[in-house]
Amino acid sequence: MSKILVTGGCGYIGGHTIVDLIENGFEVISIDDLSRGSLRMLEGIEKVTGKPVKNYKVNLCDLEDTEAVFIENPDITGIIHFAAYKSVPESVQYPLKYFRNNLDSLVNLLQCAQENNVNNFVFSSSCSVYGNPTKLPVDEKADLAEPESPYARTKQMGEAICRDFSRVNPDFKVILLRYFNPVGAHPSAIIGELQEKPENLVPVITQTAIGKLPEMNVFGSDYDTRDGSCVRDYIHVMDIANAHTKSLQYLIEDKNTDACEVFNLGTGEGVTVLELIQAFEKVSGEKLNYNLGPRRPGDVVAVYADNCKARALLDWDIKYGLEEMMDTAWRWEQALKKDATKLPLK
Ligand code: WQD
Repeated sequence: MSKILVTGGCGYIGGHTIVDLIENGFEVISIDDLSRGSLRMLEGIEKVTGKPVKNYKVNLCDLEDTEAVFIENPDITGIIHFAAYKSVPESVQYPLKYFRNNLDSLVNLLQCAQENNVNNFVFSSSCSVYGNPTKLPVDEKADLAEPESPYARTKQMGEAICRDFSRVNPDFKVILLRYFNPVGAHPSAIIGELQEKPENLVPVITQTAIGKLPEMNVFGSDYDTRDGSCVRDYIHVMDIANAHTKSLQYLIEDKNTDACEVFNLGTGEGVTVLELIQAFEKVSGEKLNYNLGPRRPGDVVAVYADNCKARALLDWDIKYGLEEMMDTAWRWEQALKKDATKLPLK
């Protein structure tokens, strides 16, 4: 059974990916310093899969502590690197904190991979590397734009670091996965996204609907789009998770044609903010209390994926539609209200 190291395994996408990896026969360990993630995620993973997952509470910016994990686990076959800060507004306020954390952790991890001959690496990137694309849907050949935030810049720099590293390490193979907008929760409602103070649209919607937030604002209704609100490509977190499993299988089976390959992870469908709200109201039966507010600085007007490359090469496809995304997100929010033990361990 191949052992996979997942960094950020106690986080939203990392945790859901661990479930998919286990269900596809992989053994998994996690490195997570719990600065953003929670051990609740590992408790939930064990409930869903029946398998306990060991987490090493290590800051990847500490090379010695990171190396110790590899020494204790000489049988690591592959690495999926999620651990990073990901708040756009926070990165604007504290750019150096983002460069230090997101880049030092990646460089340390690559050094450990080299020292321990771990040659299968999947890097968590983001559609934010495209900025405001001129051509839609956007494919992997599109030019990268000047990033809208230091967070997006750390993703662009992270991709370049992985690419340069793969050029000088002949056996090393890396896949860069550019996520569009991951949303929703595991269908069991045992695990999901834990955002205390949500910034992203879907947790803001569900927290408004459940009464945690009194109201919400639609950031801009005067854009040049079909209903004036921004367009995004919302994709279920379990579809994102399965793409990671498929990417590792692709690398382990040596199916890659280049040492560094890029894949978009989106549904290929653009959905406006107002359309998403309507989908949520239809699925939940809740009337959402929202106002049409001013634009949010730095927002991309419209972005959605051309996902043909991932579907063709990774033997991957979309399994969850928009209504299931809203349904699982809503059932997770309701589960959180019922069961405080799902909330982050303090
Ligand atoms: C989506 C749309 C908002 C909140 C960011 C990162 C990206 C990735 C996903 C990490 C936008 C609107 C939002 C609200 C609103 N992060 N909105 N009211 O900005 O597309 O992407 O998160 O990987 O890298 O950039 O996601 O969910 O914040 O916003 O109207 O209260 O919802 O203006 O149009 P975004 P988001």
